Amino acid sequence: MSKQIQFVARAGGQVKGSIRVPGDKSVSHRSIILGSIAEGTTRVEGFLEGEDSLATLQAFRDMGVEIEGPDQGCVTIHGVGLHGLKKPEKPLYLGNSGTSMRLLAGLLSAQSFPVTLTGDSSLSKRPMNRVAKPLREMGALVATKEGGQPPLEFLGGSRLKGIDYQMPIASAQVKSCLLLAGLYAEGTTRVTEPAPTRDHTERMLKGFGYSVESELTPNGKQISLSGGGVLKAIDVRVPSDISSATFFLVAAAITPGSDLKLEKVGINPTRIGVLNILKQMGADLTLSNETDEGGEPVADIEIRYAPLRGIDIPVDQVPLAIDEFPALFIAAACAEGTTRLSGAEELRVKESDRIQVMADGLSALGVTNLVKEDGIVIEGGPIQGGTVDSHGDHRIAMSFAIAALRSSGEILINDCANVATSFPGFVELVNQVGMNVTSR
Ligand code: S3P
Repeated sequence: MSKQIQFVARAGGQVKGSIRVPGDKSVSHRSIILGSIAEGTTRVEGFLEGEDSLATLQAFRDMGVEIEGPDQGCVTIHGVGLHGLKKPEKPLYLGNSGTSMRLLAGLLSAQSFPVTLTGDSSLSKRPMNRVAKPLREMGALVATKEGGQPPLEFLGGSRLKGIDYQMPIASAQVKSCLLLAGLYAEGTTRVTEPAPTRDHTERMLKGFGYSVESELTPNGKQISLSGGGVLKAIDVRVPSDISSATFFLVAAAITPGSDLKLEKVGINPTRIGVLNILKQMGADLTLSNETDEGGEPVADIEIRYAPLRGIDIPVDQVPLAIDEFPALFIAAACAEGTTRLSGAEELRVKESDRIQVMADGLSALGVTNLVKEDGIVIEGGPIQGGTVDSHGDHRIAMSFAIAALRSSGEILINDCANVATSFPGFVELVNQVGMNVTSR
């Protein structure tokens, strides 16, 4: 069991300054995966040195890839080509990282050797049939525990065939898994998403010189690629993670007098649900210095306090803000009126059941809410001090730390060690902008 860490977030504080949050987690994972199976040397800058992306990095080292770093966000990957991975000596342990497991599942389905993927207690409860089923349709020999949970065991030596797959859920992890398997499959792999999901895999594959097509169909966007190509090493510059920036966006949005600039944040259109939702709630947000870095759009985001109002969150924004809801629930608690979220059942199978765990924490702090199967209703109002349990979920821990900006008393948050999975340096950075949070 990992070390128990509790956050103590003192009531009140300021949100001022100009900061840069760490690198994007999704892009960091993909830089290691594609760099490892490319031909040549890939240099990554701005890599997120969090436990999740480090788990992906270690997995590729365990499969014989020579990787230097990370050193202040710089990683050098000596690619082994699509067929150069080696059988690891033991199961690959992926900690808390669902992205590592689902993306690696696609790649490992196609290897000549057997391999097993395991994770911590949270990851061991997460659904893997969403990838195992379509991978089996492609011809993969993969076993899960009963109920579709990890470990995932790949027998190796499968010959994959391209399939035409309509995803039942809008999941970038499933899409990416199948595209990675498709690199090795005979023929064309086509994946159709029922709603837009993050497209970092497609963008980065193209960056590595691989041909990927997208087409709008009556059932959603279809992404396709054919097996048998080659990836050529490139330099990858990782933007700051909009999901990590979100805690600071909400912090500034709920705190009178705040004025904060977040530098070089990734604003990929498939990730900006949080900006759209906060704007609709009345937040004062401005984007500047918009540029493109290695195929991903970035910008500085400035946010000043403005009173928020409750809204019905548009369902089409849900996949575009899927990781941002714990923090957005804190914004809703500080807004005038009622905020309603529906169509978000996926939140129940993240690192924790994010609907129930957030509802329990909000209730402990005196915030009126009503849990629904696929969402939540939150009434804006005063926030009291109290003790909440993050259930080992990094984003829940950070969200309740931010809530202390508007609480009448101290908030104690239990089980915070996993903040290190996505946001090393979170506590230092919140204190730098004027909050008072300690970790013990
Ligand atoms: C991710 C996709 C999302 C997101 C996760 C990272 C990715 O999951 O919640 O944190 O990097 O592809 P789903 O695609 O399952 O919604």
